[in-house]
Amino acid sequence: MNFKLEIRKILEPQIGKEFDIEIPPNPEMGDFALPCFTLAKTFKKGPNEIAQDILKKIRPTKYISEIKVSGPYLNFFINKSFLIKETLQEIFKKKGRYGAHKKNKERVMIEYSQANTHKAFHVGHIRGTSLGESLARILKFYGFSVVQANYQGDTGAHVAKWLWAYLKYHKGETPPKVNLESWIANIYVEAVKKLEEVPAFQEEVNKINLHLENKSDKSLIKLWSKTRKLSLIAFEKIYRDLGAHFDYYFFEREVEKRGREIALELLKKGIAEESDGAVIINLEKYSLGVWVLLRKDGTCLYSAKDLALAELKFKKYKIDRNLYVVGAAQSLHLKQLFKTLELMGFKNASKCYHLSFSEVRLPTGKMSSRTGQNVLYSDMKSTLIKYALNQVKSRHEDWAEKKINESANNIAIAALKFNMLAPDNNKLIIFDYEKVLKFEGDTGPYVQYAHARICSILKKSKLAISNPKYKLLDTEEESNLIRQLSIFPQIVLEAERAYKPNIIANYALELTRKFNKFYELHKVLTDSEDLSRARLVLISAVKQVLANSLYLLGIDAPSHM
Ligand code: ARG
Repeated sequence: MNFKLEIRKILEPQIGKEFDIEIPPNPEMGDFALPCFTLAKTFKKGPNEIAQDILKKIRPTKYISEIKVSGPYLNFFINKSFLIKETLQEIFKKKGRYGAHKKNKERVMIEYSQANTHKAFHVGHIRGTSLGESLARILKFYGFSVVQANYQGDTGAHVAKWLWAYLKYHKGETPPKVNLESWIANIYVEAVKKLEEVPAFQEEVNKINLHLENKSDKSLIKLWSKTRKLSLIAFEKIYRDLGAHFDYYFFEREVEKRGREIALELLKKGIAEESDGAVIINLEKYSLGVWVLLRKDGTCLYSAKDLALAELKFKKYKIDRNLYVVGAAQSLHLKQLFKTLELMGFKNASKCYHLSFSEVRLPTGKMSSRTGQNVLYSDMKSTLIKYALNQVKSRHEDWAEKKINESANNIAIAALKFNMLAPDNNKLIIFDYEKVLKFEGDTGPYVQYAHARICSILKKSKLAISNPKYKLLDTEEESNLIRQLSIFPQIVLEAERAYKPNIIANYALELTRKFNKFYELHKVLTDSEDLSRARLVLISAVKQVLANSLYLLGIDAPSHM
């Protein structure tokens, strides 16, 4: 039952179609509310008066037991027994699809993660990867056909720097089997440091960059190809850890040639111009500065490659919408990209969106002490696992080592991802290892633990959970839980509209709080078989919706912890 739609049906004959129904912050204000502020213009009256007027013209229905005015709001109360029955039945009918919307034809590409080869996978990448994966799931659940894409920088200035430092300081060194990721990251950091010390070395790097792009030095290309692969293998391991999936991988290398062509076409058309031998596009008119497409030596920049990538995505993959999940530091770049696409007459320019996210820092500051760079994924993961191991060991002294390790690993990853998703994407995250692993507060383990707990209650009970007497679920805590369960489809819709997984994460936290409150005050297995049965139905619905929420976040819902 779509209660919102029911309410719309009551209201539309009175006020037309232009209004929004909200979910009030607490149940005393009803299950749904119509805020009358925006109607003031059309009705030429104050919102309080409008609310009164509408109330006089409408009646409660079978589903809506009461309609009240509260200041500028019209509050709707759903018939309680109806809400309970409808909600719980729907959850059992739809199970893993509860909250999902109808399929639609729109094809959306979500490009995320985008770690560069020859460089570290750091905390910012964890945030982007968690966000992108969750968004893909939310949009799919909503009904879109979703294409998950990665775009890795496997060529360009940073790769040239890495190859230069390797050849100069590490030639002949065999890459280590363990800690490969740090080895790769460290060589890049070394390159940057050496170049700072002796800026003249940049000439050597430029030469390598030119050879790399022209493919004019066979042995260099061989080294590039080998080391590129090492990076990609290391990334795949991380993606397996994080549960990230990609349908397509794009590489900067494959769009380099077309990028240069586009830049030259733009030059010919007079959209781009030459400046000091470089090809640039002047976007100052749009307050977007100057965007450099090709260097003086003709090599292709990140900018021009992105023009080619956008073209490739729409042409070859037939997408309707193109989402870039990229850190806020690249906001200007993406604005320049979208503007240039528009100036080129690229008709899908308006179908490109930047989903920006803010930085991740440790409480001690931004940098890792060891590398002087952003904190590496591998360092963060091992620190988290260390903490999680202590926790699991103290809770489960009887568990075998393997089980302890597995559980610690799962808890660590879930805690990590949840902490990347729960804050708004535009907020800075200060990552606190101990806090994110806590079984209380705003954490992933807190939500997962509620799920595991329900699983164990259900396992213990021998009652069949059919034909429950819904009426028995009449305490305040039960009503609150049911209300929270009933809004899940609406929450999915909001998360999809805003591209915000944190809406789902916060919903899951709230559901967990409401479940814990209920469980603190009431027994599930009571002396009355009827009441026990009804409550078992209720908690299995909670379990299902927690599982659905965690799924949308890309996080496991464990049955024991
Ligand atoms: N690989 C890039 C970087 O690390 C991010 C790519 C973002 N996507 C894009 N189409 N520009 O900075």
